Amino acid sequence: MPTLLVTGGCGFIGANFIRWQLQTHADQKVVNLDKLTYAGNPENLADVASDPRYVFEHGDICDREFVDRVLKDHQPDLVVNFAAESHVDRSILDSGPFVRTNIVGTQILMDACRAVGTQRYLQVSTDEVYGSLGAEGFFTEETPLAPNSPYSASKAAADLLVRGYVHTFGFPAVITRCSNNYGPYQFPEKLIPLFISNALKDQALPVYGTGHNVRDWIHVLDHGRGIDAALRRGRVGEVYNFGGHSEVRNIDLTLTLLELLGKPKTLIKYVTDRPGHDLRYAIDCAKAETELGWKPQYNFRDGLRETIDWYLANTAWIDRIKSGEYRKYYEQQYGGRL
Ligand code: NAD
Ligand code: TYD
Repeated sequence: MPTLLVTGGCGFIGANFIRWQLQTHADQKVVNLDKLTYAGNPENLADVASDPRYVFEHGDICDREFVDRVLKDHQPDLVVNFAAESHVDRSILDSGPFVRTNIVGTQILMDACRAVGTQRYLQVSTDEVYGSLGAEGFFTEETPLAPNSPYSASKAAADLLVRGYVHTFGFPAVITRCSNNYGPYQFPEKLIPLFISNALKDQALPVYGTGHNVRDWIHVLDHGRGIDAALRRGRVGEVYNFGGHSEVRNIDLTLTLLELLGKPKTLIKYVTDRPGHDLRYAIDCAKAETELGWKPQYNFRDGLRETIDWYLANTAWIDRIKSGEYRKYYEQQYGGRL
């Protein structure tokens, strides 16, 4: 049975990806290597934990001995690296963990893959490595890297390291760069789950700056299908962009969320802008569409409704997160501003 190793599988995108892999690839073992940071939650995969094709390995991608042991034990054919520190605002508070996990962790994982001869490695990157767009234009795979936050700089550094391994060692890697994801199990520090969960409790929704910043939203399962296509059909050394064809200003998204939740606009609170806040992200995914035969399937409004329904049905999941260690971050980030 072929083996797929996923790192960071207890986070938002990794958990959705693993569940979908187990549903769609019957004859495959999935190994999930995760450190369980504040963002890693085993509850996100509770429904598959007893599947005999699923194995959990608890540890850090920066721990060479541990990663070597996992790779030797499981000899994965395919590896997808989701493990990362993923939140821009946290990278502004402290960039140390971002440099360690996102850069050093990627190096250690690739070295371990080389040692066991992994057939294909996929680096999950982000459109944020391209920097910020003005009112016009789209990011293509040829857009020069110009990251603006410690988070995106650490992701761009990892991408360059992957490129170096491909060219120097013939390392069989592909890179994917995706726009902002939404869907079930997203940690409620990110815009959509934060605003849904605050609104449900009639708490303020902190819109940064003018609210005119634009993001291109993609459903997490559309991203997952793209990763699967690039992993199995992408060309080594290539980059593939994924986006949702759903550009929305933050303030318009906030108004839509309030409308779908039946909550008043008075919950909106404009707060001090994020330092270095990128204005606009928008993706040209023509390469993925023509080369991989991939296309986003979700319409944003329908996907958003479905996502709201999931959060409404899982308020206990959010409450457990919001009453735990996350409270400290929330107070540091928004305390006194809301
Ligand atoms: P997340 O923060 O929800 O989850 C990250 C996961 O990685 C957690 O389970 C965490 O425990 C694990 N992890 C962190 N450090 C680790 C380490 N040192 N060793 C092992 N595991 C570790 O993140 P996410 O939103 O699911 O993002 C996953 C990946 O996708 C990241 O690489 C991110 O850069 C990329 N990405 C995210 C988005 C988005 O909109 N969320 C968009 C494009 C790309
Ligand atoms: P976020 O979900 O943090 O993703 P990213 O910064 O990676 O794009 O933020 C999405 C957008 O929403 C971004 O423009 C910042 C903005 N934002 C707010 O206005 N208020 C908030 O409380 C958060 C978390 C984000």
